[in-house]
Amino acid sequence: MSTGANRAIWGSKIGFVLAASGSAIGLGNIVFFGANAYRYGGGAFYLPYLTALLVLGLPMMIVELAIGQQERRALPGAMRRTCGKTGEFFAWWSLLNATIIAMYYITILAWSASMMFKSFGPLFADGAASVGSTFGGVLTSWMTVVFTIGIWALNVLFLSKGTRTIEAVVKLFVPLMWVFMLMLVVRGLTLDGGFDGLLYLFTPDFEGIKSPGVWQGACSQIFFSLSLGLGTMTAYASYLPKKSDTVTNAGMVSFLNCSFEFIAGVAIFSILFAFSMHPGQDTGTLGMSLVVVPTGIAQFPAMQTLIAFAFFLLMVVAGLTSSISIIESPVAALQDKFGWSRRKTLALVTIFGAAGSVAFALPQMLTINDQPAQPLGISLLELFDHWAFGYSLLVVGMVEAILIGHIYGIKKLREKINAHSRVKLGAWFDFQIKWVVPVLLGIVLLFNIAEECGLTIEALGISGRGFYIGDSKQTFDGLSAMPIVVFLTWFLITLVGALSITAHKGAQK
Ligand code: PHE
Repeated sequence: MSTGANRAIWGSKIGFVLAASGSAIGLGNIVFFGANAYRYGGGAFYLPYLTALLVLGLPMMIVELAIGQQERRALPGAMRRTCGKTGEFFAWWSLLNATIIAMYYITILAWSASMMFKSFGPLFADGAASVGSTFGGVLTSWMTVVFTIGIWALNVLFLSKGTRTIEAVVKLFVPLMWVFMLMLVVRGLTLDGGFDGLLYLFTPDFEGIKSPGVWQGACSQIFFSLSLGLGTMTAYASYLPKKSDTVTNAGMVSFLNCSFEFIAGVAIFSILFAFSMHPGQDTGTLGMSLVVVPTGIAQFPAMQTLIAFAFFLLMVVAGLTSSISIIESPVAALQDKFGWSRRKTLALVTIFGAAGSVAFALPQMLTINDQPAQPLGISLLELFDHWAFGYSLLVVGMVEAILIGHIYGIKKLREKINAHSRVKLGAWFDFQIKWVVPVLLGIVLLFNIAEECGLTIEALGISGRGFYIGDSKQTFDGLSAMPIVVFLTWFLITLVGALSITAHKGAQK
């Protein structure tokens, strides 16, 4: 049996931190953060992002790690033991989600791997112009299917002996991706004009943050980036000793992830600015990293091939340490539930998952309503991404917070966390999980649904009162400002709360 006292355990504390941060740092940091930050206008994005990190991300990271570590089960088992059958039901639902995300995640990795090999060949043959068509070629090539299967095979290999193989891989891959990323950011910033990218990314844009879309984007980004809502962190934490320091672990993993994300953002923006590239606002997330950034690299003064190769390799390496964690989540859960061997479970999940990835990778051309022909994979992928990224993660987070907060009792969990954590969580944490997280996620979800139905704020007729600055009328939209007010208030309360516990550390026990 893999559950209970003789469950596998990480070889070392650092092994766990590397694995969990390797899970968190992935395509989300390199592909999605840059594209989201660009879409929402740089300086408008990172304030909502940081707020979402403190208000939603960090608390949920603590909860997901804590239940895994304390119950020594993957998500369904841990939820069953804490919140009963409803909890278990939602956990399985989120694992189905994890499997679907694993499918397209791996297809994207296969595209990146194909581009990596292409960077030696025709990619830069005639300068920047060929990057787009090379990617088009990758999308419509049967070779991509072969790469997809290859990436699945690597995942199986890395997961084959559980924590032992995972740990070996992350010890090599995680430091490697930091080195690559640091090299890329230094090169980007030292390009002529590269520094402007940094300024654009970090100059606050208070106009932009009034839009609810930015807040939705930031919340989804944080959940995805920290690997929350898919049972991943719970599965990894289930291999920790019961007495681990949850708060420190959660803080460390979140800190490493978000630092990497910012560095990646700076690297991407420096390249965009150095070559004055202004991709359209509708540039897909994938286009940004697989076409726009490489197009910039093609214009580097020297070593384009090597840098492009390193960039794609970085994506593959960072993505692999994440994809293994997404797959580990259902694998660990099925093993817990049915007591199957690792081999059998891994084989089952792989057959199901790889079939899906291959479907996304198929080079069939599709033409819908006179739109330019698109590979089936891209359309399906966008569809799944839209639902999984924009909704499912957030729904799971919300339900998790409600169940753990109200059914299991967050106070009980907090006391167990505090028993072994250096930094003690105060009573504010209970309120945070019981009310703040679910209510905020609820608001974000409602906005998403409203937008889905075409009910923009204007369409609802709730347009705001205007006010004047000099001669120009500024419209201030009451509704769009609401989430910001709520967030900022909570940001302040969280900050004050955090400071006050640090001040009264000993007194809490
Ligand atoms: N956090 C990973 C990334 O940023 C993706 C991921 C999501 C991994 C959920 C595991 C679980 O790419």
